[in-house]
Amino acid sequence: MSSFHSVQWLDKGVVRMLDQRKLPHETIYNEYTTAEQVAEAIHDMVIRGAPAIGAAAAYGLCLVGAHTRHDSATGLQIELNEAAETLRQARPTAVNLFWAIDRMMNRLNDPALDSIEALQAAALAEAKAIAAEDVAINKQIGRNAMPLVPDGATIIHHCNTGSLATVDYGTALGIIRMAHEEGKNVFALVDETRPRLQGGRLTAYELQQYGVPFQVIVDGASGHFMRVKGVDLCVVGADRVAANGDTANKIGTYNLAVVAHENGVPFYVAAPTTTIDLATPTGDEIEIEERPALEVTTVGTWQITPDDTPVGNPAFDVTPAKYITAIISEKGVAYPPFEKSLAALMANE
Ligand code: MRU
Repeated sequence: MSSFHSVQWLDKGVVRMLDQRKLPHETIYNEYTTAEQVAEAIHDMVIRGAPAIGAAAAYGLCLVGAHTRHDSATGLQIELNEAAETLRQARPTAVNLFWAIDRMMNRLNDPALDSIEALQAAALAEAKAIAAEDVAINKQIGRNAMPLVPDGATIIHHCNTGSLATVDYGTALGIIRMAHEEGKNVFALVDETRPRLQGGRLTAYELQQYGVPFQVIVDGASGHFMRVKGVDLCVVGADRVAANGDTANKIGTYNLAVVAHENGVPFYVAAPTTTIDLATPTGDEIEIEERPALEVTTVGTWQITPDDTPVGNPAFDVTPAKYITAIISEKGVAYPPFEKSLAALMANE
């Protein structure tokens, strides 16, 4: 386990989250008591990363139960459904958010839950299961990936996909961590990941703690490193994988995949099956979040552009399936053609 927790339930009816906006310089945990506060924290990126925001939303629904203003199960169920709608609006791209809320509400709309206490207990049990399963899933992704990571590999990683982006251990970063723990002598090249610098701030913070050797590089340097220094593989996470394998992930992933293709470097996506969305046929149907211009015009409090500079700031891009070597999940490794392999993977209980 990591020395920090992205999200935790405290028994006094509080959700505690590590404020990732403050890392690496300050380790501050914020406490939340309403689902609206949790939705705002997800929107403002106190917590971020697809699996982590799913777990946060699940615990957000537990807060509704813990502090309900109703005295009947029916009243609480109405309140829970309203809170679920608020949480759904927090961010649009990562499917784990919607998956976790749907899972919670499928359980909590059960008419057999006919008391406040039964709803509170069911909510907490389901949210804790989502959190515990996430950690187990991430470790299994790592185990499934180990045959693909050669001893001594140099690996490019984009964004942050570690313990901070999940409940613990991580997906793509979990693979790098596991390879290191297994003594594989891996070296990570960490894309800094403009504009919010999840790589430079968060992935570097995690890798330092795990003792994995790494360098932070600017996003535009990946092609240079592949061509001149030699890179063995790229591994990235995902916010949503469509049925045909097209993958939405942090902005810049597409560029990395194209450069990897050009240089003959294998490009792997690490994603739990909770991120695979067979209901979305292709990447074209994935909503891409547009974030505030301030993320681009400033670094910290320093404005780097002229006043009134127009900005485009998509938070994610879609990497077409043709650039993806394989998608590594806890249920196994899917290879092209992904329509077939992902459907088979998801059917596999
Ligand atoms: O905007 P963010 O920081 O939430 O984006 C995170 C990513 O794009 C991650 O790569 C993805 O969620 C996978 S995390 C295991």
